[in-house]
Amino acid sequence: MAHAQTHQIDREARWCRQGHKSGVLWFTGLSGAGKSSLAIGLERILFDQDMRVFVLDGDNLRHGLNGDLGFSDADRQENIRRVTEVAEGFSGSGTIVITAFISPFRIDRDNARRVIGEQFHEVFIDAGLEICEARDPKGLYAKARAGEISNFTGISSPYEAPLNPELEVDTGTEDFDTCLERLRKYAISAFHL
Ligand code: ADX
Repeated sequence: MAHAQTHQIDREARWCRQGHKSGVLWFTGLSGAGKSSLAIGLERILFDQDMRVFVLDGDNLRHGLNGDLGFSDADRQENIRRVTEVAEGFSGSGTIVITAFISPFRIDRDNARRVIGEQFHEVFIDAGLEICEARDPKGLYAKARAGEISNFTGISSPYEAPLNPELEVDTGTEDFDTCLERLRKYAISAFHL
């Protein structure tokens, strides 16, 4: 095991200089629930308020860092383990990280909470399966139903909803702007110095 190096600059010093705390808003929810759109929308709002913020998104990371991973339980676990470490690093650098991954397994999200600590905020982007399936923005639910995609979350692979998330946003019953405003309010108070 390699020896860990200690930074001379602690996170409070970074927070002080930039005027806000850092941490991780961990979005979880089914494909089509709105995680990525809300993450991108929230990133814009916080950036426009001069906050340091960055989105880590499943579809993007799976092209690069996690390009070797598929959708078996083990691969999802490894996907989320890597994302956890990257998010923890960004957060330590002073950045507010918004992660947008299905992250279907409680054990992996609980591990992220353990690694990231008190600056971890679990945000359940909720929308019933019927709603996500009806939206089907990428046509993946139809393919999963037709048996063309295996291990599809909600159809042929489980989704374990958070039991005690810091915030829950229901895109099935509230419109996009209302959800975004709730996220904005939460983020401003969570990262306020
Ligand atoms: S996770 O389960 O490992 O957290 P992640 O968020 O990275 O998943 O990727 C999910 C995205 O991959 C979905 O939004 C969808 O576009 C795509 N995808 C492709 N195959 C699957 C599948 N079998 N299950 C879920 N999503 C899939």
